[in-house]
Amino acid sequence: MNINQHYLELQDSYLFSLVTKKVNAYKEKNPSKEVIRLGIGDVTLPLVPAVVEAMQKAVAEQGEKSTFKGYGEEQGYEFLRQTICQYYSEKKVSLSDTEVFISDGAKSDIGNILDIFDIDNTVLIPDPVYPVYVDTNVMAGRKIIYANGTVENNFSPLPDENIKADIIYLCSPNNPTGAVYNKEQLESWVSYALKHDAVILFDSAYETFIQDESLPTSIYQIEGAEKCAIEFCSLSKTAGFTGTRCGYTIVPHALIRNNTSLNKLWLRRQTTKFNGVPYIVQKGAEAVFSNDGLQQIKENIAYYMENAKLISGTLKELNIWHVGGENSPYIWLKCPNDMTSWDYFDYLLENAQVVGTPGSGFGSNGEGFFRLSAFGERKNVIEAMERLRKLK
Ligand SMILES: Cc1ncc(COP(=O)(O)O)c(C=O)c1O
Repeated sequence: MNINQHYLELQDSYLFSLVTKKVNAYKEKNPSKEVIRLGIGDVTLPLVPAVVEAMQKAVAEQGEKSTFKGYGEEQGYEFLRQTICQYYSEKKVSLSDTEVFISDGAKSDIGNILDIFDIDNTVLIPDPVYPVYVDTNVMAGRKIIYANGTVENNFSPLPDENIKADIIYLCSPNNPTGAVYNKEQLESWVSYALKHDAVILFDSAYETFIQDESLPTSIYQIEGAEKCAIEFCSLSKTAGFTGTRCGYTIVPHALIRNNTSLNKLWLRRQTTKFNGVPYIVQKGAEAVFSNDGLQQIKENIAYYMENAKLISGTLKELNIWHVGGENSPYIWLKCPNDMTSWDYFDYLLENAQVVGTPGSGFGSNGEGFFRLSAFGERKNVIEAMERLRKLK
């Protein structure tokens, strides 16, 4: 028996544990100081009333013989898949409900989708980015190359025709940088993928945070994307489902490689290895897309986006270079005075008692940068920004 040796090649993911360790040590030494966390990637507002009501009703249904449901379809109930098609039709994207797969969140599907791709594919991953893309490919032993995010390209790298990639990850709005691709930029990625027979794995977990209506919220708003892209979406940040768990993945019927439908392969994979999402949760997810649900989550998102505006406004005032915060809940700043990410972390903790996330934890291009998130409470954001101003 041999283990999968590739697991030993994974870099220790010490980012958040080291943050917690440092914060706890500081608090122990300085018990009277109030530390404000602006580093969290989790939501703080609870589920909206429309979702709670729908789930309570579904719980009651599960307790009645006449409405009880056992195993459901692994790819999700038709009522939810159709609701999502309707949501996409408002984005001017036409989908069939058999192209929609309900998941327990984007992270699982982003990792699991790799089952349907050959190990010999070369993977192109933006740097910096959500670490799950790298780690899932390291676990599988795939060759990884990087697309560099830099100040010069506003952390929105574009394709390089001289590089051959088979699987391309794109994350827009991006975690951690908050950068969002515009239509022309996504067109260049779709054109590259079509030309090179590559598949784009498009992570749109933060699409509902896009405020500028000229920016694409789905890769399928780009012509030809249905022939080269899979889209991953999540209700985690959109509707506070981080603990409730629901997302969805779109695999178009037009996506064919080696004369084979990737939709068919993914359906086979899911019906074999996935049990589906609980009926109660899918009812809650359906309610997110109801008129009441959409209105209620819009208010929550507006709350977070007001936080983001306060943060980016303060950084502007302080002349600190940053991206994000306008169409995403993350703000990505260049550490002042050429500090490293961890130096700036320590500096902010010691001098302002504000906690953020060191950019170096998201890839080597993240060194010297820092992520702030807008998911905190308003009063804490205001107080943290006042403390930042006083540092000057
Ligand atoms: C870019 C990105 N994709 C996916 C996820 C995972 O989402 P989910 O909670 O649906 O698994 C996250 C969570 O932080 C994320 O930042």
